[in-house]
Amino acid sequence: MTVEAAPQESYLFQANIGKAGPQVVGGKGVRVDVKFDGKVQKGMIDAVAGAAVGALGWGDEEVYQIINDAARNSTYSYPALLSNESAEELAKFYIENSPEGVFAAALWCTSGSESNENALRIIRQYWVERGLPEKMKIISRENSYHGFTLAAQSISSNPRIDAFSPLLIDQKNICIKMPCAYTYRFKEAKETEEEYAQRLLDILENKILEHTPERVGAVIVETLPGSALGTSPPPKGYLKGIRALCNKYDIIFQLDEVMCGTGRCNPNGRLNCWENFLDPCDAPDIQTVGKTLGSGYVTIAGVLVGPKIRNAFLEGSGSIIGGHTYSCHAFNCAVALGIQKKIKKEKLPENMFKMGNLMGQKLKDKLLSADNIAGDVRGIGGFWTVEFVQDRVTKKMFDSSLNVAGRFKQIAYKNGITLICMPSVKDNVGDLAIMAPSFIITEEDVDEIVEKMVESTNELSKQLRKEGVW
Ligand SMILES: Cc1ncc(COP(=O)(O)O)c(C=O)c1O
Repeated sequence: MTVEAAPQESYLFQANIGKAGPQVVGGKGVRVDVKFDGKVQKGMIDAVAGAAVGALGWGDEEVYQIINDAARNSTYSYPALLSNESAEELAKFYIENSPEGVFAAALWCTSGSESNENALRIIRQYWVERGLPEKMKIISRENSYHGFTLAAQSISSNPRIDAFSPLLIDQKNICIKMPCAYTYRFKEAKETEEEYAQRLLDILENKILEHTPERVGAVIVETLPGSALGTSPPPKGYLKGIRALCNKYDIIFQLDEVMCGTGRCNPNGRLNCWENFLDPCDAPDIQTVGKTLGSGYVTIAGVLVGPKIRNAFLEGSGSIIGGHTYSCHAFNCAVALGIQKKIKKEKLPENMFKMGNLMGQKLKDKLLSADNIAGDVRGIGGFWTVEFVQDRVTKKMFDSSLNVAGRFKQIAYKNGITLICMPSVKDNVGDLAIMAPSFIITEEDVDEIVEKMVESTNELSKQLRKEGVW
């Protein structure tokens, strides 16, 4: 018997299957046109640049020229057999635009998840090269996100990975978790920020000792966490303390800057977010990057390694085991290099840091001084979050059945602003609205984002009051 197929709304196997969700149909600068239910909402302000991706905004004419030139001048090369100049030049650019001596080499890949997969593989091979194969345990954090491939999920911790847990790398003995750094919610009132950092560092040191330092290979954290924790800045002394413990016990220190790095949050008009918190002598041994590297025009991410790691390989086997067909892809690297040079020439990281901090301050002033559901506004430079709470004093979260983040996203969309909204995780993380605009935003754009955020927060607060839950 044949069954007549119902008309299909969507042929994609992504997000909500079978339903045609909102579709982007155009973009220019910081604005996007989105089609939904047959109607196009024009000129929405893209407060999150896709997903902290589009540093240059959309539809940049100069980038089209860069793409055109790259397409003409790039020939594909299979990385195990042949290299290419664009990949070399991009690596040199990143290394030279980071503090001197911190990074020594780079591997380019095609997504942030893949960059963390490669970083894990490099860490593993590093210990094998050094003749210490037992150093295979990895300590990362609760409430973290490092990507959606299985190894990247194994070092992550958030509800999105729960369904896949049977497939992940051993969570008890290999991929170990320590508490996240979440000052707003988990610093005790009697503690200073430094004392809170020290408490977290003591927990980390105890974990290292419990698992024996001879078996611990790496500590991995997001410098400024993204979707799983909403831009919670590390408490004072925390990252420096992790570096010190890694030095003490001969452990690799990895920072994941896929979402917060590559110009989004740098205080010196350069690339790395960690420069807010660490001196170059305390820099990570290995770092993953992505998102703004290609700014949404090409799919590119990467792994940067410091001299310590590069030297171990040089003194050992001299080569990386394995590779991907599209690693160090010439066209992607050429476009990313052109984009990064343009970002540098136009001093856009400076603009992002200044405008982002202005946006954060205005959001704090307007939201936290009024009666509404905003409990915390936090972030640095171009990466900010509003956390919604039922009670500002006790920081009580909304019950997840109220779908506060989901409803906020809908209201914000209606009001013409795009955001990433993450639902609360019981007794753990509140409902979050995350912003990461393009580096090109102006003060007028900032005012518009703030105005729409305030309008949307007030609208949802009113609804929740009417329902008797706030
Ligand atoms: C910190 C962090 N690491 C890794 C990833 C994974 O990147 P991708 O989605 O490009 O695989 C993300 C994505 O949001 C991220 O925020």
